[in-house]
Amino acid sequence: MIFDVFATILLVVEYFARPPLRYRLPTLDIASSNASSGCGVESSWQFDSTNHANITMGDRSFLVHIPPSYIAATPHALVLSYHGFGEDDLNQEKISGLSQQGLKINGKGIIAVYPNAQFGPGRSGNESVRAWQGAPYSPPGVDDIAFTQTVVQQMQSNLCVDSSRIYASGKSNGGGFTNLLACTQSTANIFAAFSPVSAALYSGANPTNCAPGRTVPIINFHGLADTTVPFYGQSADDRGDTAYATPSITQYREAWAIRNGCGPPSCSDSPPLGINAIISNPDANTTLLQSICSASDNDAIVNGFTVKCLGHSWPSTLGLDGGITDFNATTTYIVPFFESHTLT
Ligand SMILES: *[C@@H]1O[C@H](CO)[C@@H](O)[C@H](O)[C@H]1NC(C)=O
Ligand SMILES: *[C@@H]1O[C@H](CO)[C@@H](O)[C@H](O)[C@H]1NC(C)=O
Ligand SMILES: *[C@@H]1O[C@H](CO)[C@@H](O)[C@H](O)[C@H]1NC(C)=O
Ligand SMILES: *[C@@H]1O[C@H](CO)[C@@H](O)[C@H](O)[C@H]1NC(C)=O
Ligand SMILES: *[C@@H]1O[C@H](CO)[C@@H](O)[C@H](O)[C@H]1NC(C)=O
Repeated sequence: MIFDVFATILLVVEYFARPPLRYRLPTLDIASSNASSGCGVESSWQFDSTNHANITMGDRSFLVHIPPSYIAATPHALVLSYHGFGEDDLNQEKISGLSQQGLKINGKGIIAVYPNAQFGPGRSGNESVRAWQGAPYSPPGVDDIAFTQTVVQQMQSNLCVDSSRIYASGKSNGGGFTNLLACTQSTANIFAAFSPVSAALYSGANPTNCAPGRTVPIINFHGLADTTVPFYGQSADDRGDTAYATPSITQYREAWAIRNGCGPPSCSDSPPLGINAIISNPDANTTLLQSICSASDNDAIVNGFTVKCLGHSWPSTLGLDGGITDFNATTTYIVPFFESHTLT
C-alpha cells in the first residue's frame, strides 16, 4: 500500500518533469546507447544563419558547424579538424571543406568542429603564433589533449552526437597533433578514426612510445613536393635545428601498420596481410599504400596516399589549400573512411 502511493507520486512527478510537448522527441532515434547527453534537448548554443557557433571557454575557442538537417532527436557524427601552424578555425574550415553541404555519415549530416590553438613563440621564439602541442614552436605548458577532451564533452552535452562516430583530422601542425591524439590512449578511445594530412610529425607529435592501446584506423595524405614537411623526412630544419627532425612518411605509415598488427614484412606474407600489402593508383599522380593488418579487425588499417607534385596542401580539385589534385581528399576518401569505422 505504502509502495503504491509512493509509485503514484513518482509517476505524477515524472509526468510534470517531462519537457514541453514541442521538445518531446521521438524515442526511437535517441534510444541508441551511442546518443550523447545533448540528444533530445534543445541546445543553449546560438547558431547563426550559416549554422555556425563560435564557442568560447576562457582563453580557448572552437568553431562549430551543424548541418542544415541537424535535429536534436538524431545522433550525428562529429568530425574535429585542427588547423596548421599560424592558421585558425576559419582557414581549416575552408581548406578541409568539412562544412560543405551533403557530407553524410550513417545517413546523417555531420557536425564539424574547428578548434583554435593557443599562441606560441613561433619559430624564431619571440613571436605570437597559434600552434598545437607537439611542435618545437608550441606554447609551453598548454595541454591540448585535455582541451580536446573538453571540446568533445562540450559537443556531447550541447548537441546530439553519435559517440561511436567521433573523428579527428588536421593539417600540418594540426595533422601532427591529430597523430598525437591517435598515439594517446585516453584520446585514441574517443575517436573512431584519424586523418593526419601533410602532418608535421616532430617527436612531440609522434612519440617513440606511441601507445594507443588499440588498433587505430589511419588515413594519411602527403605530397611528394612538400618542402615544409618533406616526404622523405629530415634530421634538422634549414637552420640545423634537430628539434625539427621528422620521419620519412613511408616509415611513419609502416610504424602504424606494425602497431596495428602488420608485419614486420616477411617473404611469407600473402596479401592482404602485411605491410603496404596493397598498392594502387586510385587517381592521377596518386599512389595508395594500404596496409590491412588483420583479416578480422576492421580497425587495423592504414591508408597512405602519396601525391606526386603536391606541396604542403590538403588535396582538393579546387586548390582550396594551394595545391590542385585530381581528387578531393575530404569527400572522396576521408569521410567514406570515417564512415566505415565506429567505436564500440
Ligand atoms: C571565435 O572566438 C575567438 C575568441 O574570441 C576568436 O579568436 C576567433 O577568431 C573566433 N572565430 C571566429 C570564426 O569568429
Ligand atoms: C625576433 O628574433 C629575431 C631573431 O631570432 C629578430 O631578428 C627579430 O627582430 C625579433 N623580433 C622581435 C619582435 O623581437
Ligand atoms: C600530374 O602531374 C603532372 C606533372 O608530372 C601534371 O602535369 C599533371 O597536371 C598532373 N595531373 C593531375 C591530374 O594532377
Ligand atoms: C571536389 O569538390 C568540389 C567542391 O565541392 C567539386 O566542385 C568537385 O566536383 C569535386 N571533385 C571531385 C573529383 O569529386
Ligand atoms: C552504435 O554503435 C555501435 C558500435 O559501434 C554500432 O554498431 C551501431 O550501429 C551504433 N548505433 C547507431 C544507432 O548508430
